[in-house]
Amino acid sequence: MELLRTEKLTMKFGGLTAVNQVDFSIDKGQTVGVIGPNGSGKTTFFNLLTGIYEPADGKIFFEGKLINGARPDKNFKLGIARTFQNGRLFWGLNVLENVMIGLHTKQRSFIWEAVTHNLRAREEENQAIGKAREIIGYFSEHLLQEQDTLANSLSYADRRRLEICRALISQPKLLILDEPSAGMDPNETENLVKDIRKIHNIQPHISIIVIEHDMGLIEGLADRVMCFNYGQKIAEGLFEEVSKNKEVVRAYLGEEEEHVSA
Ligand SMILES: Nc1ncnc2c1ncn2[C@@H]1O[C@H](COP(=O)(O)OP(=O)(O)O)[C@@H](O)[C@H]1O
Ligand SMILES: [Mg+2]
Repeated sequence: MELLRTEKLTMKFGGLTAVNQVDFSIDKGQTVGVIGPNGSGKTTFFNLLTGIYEPADGKIFFEGKLINGARPDKNFKLGIARTFQNGRLFWGLNVLENVMIGLHTKQRSFIWEAVTHNLRAREEENQAIGKAREIIGYFSEHLLQEQDTLANSLSYADRRRLEICRALISQPKLLILDEPSAGMDPNETENLVKDIRKIHNIQPHISIIVIEHDMGLIEGLADRVMCFNYGQKIAEGLFEEVSKNKEVVRAYLGEEEEHVSA
């Protein structure tokens, strides 16, 4: 069953076409990787899906309904949750509190009532704590042991884990991860991949789109891969096929050459 589909999705910044006529689709329960060199349009594509940008052209369907131009909060309520390439956490709050924040749009005026400390708020707060601990525990036992640690004292890898837990607690239908392994070493990346694979144990029907510049992370994680170059989809299919595709290899090699000459 299809969850999301784009048709000829296009985004322009002035004279630059950052996303160029992209046809894409993801089914319920599927994990799709989006790869491509730096600057190829991956993040822009995601910003279109979540509603941060309005497409210059093309269409986005979510559960069969056209969602072009819907704002991020509306898309979040529909069930589209995301993490950011440069992590956005509440640095002065602890792990548990950061995950509980992910509930606030689902639970009516949760934060406000928590502040006024009335009885119902207490109940909601206890439920929220329970849910948050459950999600964190399923995803990463190690992070659960850090539940009282402030976000700003966490390792880079645990910050990414925390972001993912915060997104998961809203029980999204679609989870979009933008370069989850950014800034991590190969060992940390491998452990994160294992944790991301556990998401389907918690929420079997969730669909996941993972943007990654690093092809190693996508291998063994995604059912299917799409590769961007200069805003266009240049390849799509199984990882084994796409990673050997001549145009894909050339795009990544071209990037290395740019680094050498820079
Ligand atoms: N807000 C913006 N304004 C102008 N140009 C942008 C903006 N965001 C991205 N771009 C440009 O669009 C292209 C695609 O960028 P991006 O989607 O961030 O690539 P990726 O995530 O694949 O590294 C790049 O050339 C980038 O410089
Ligand atoms: Mg990016």
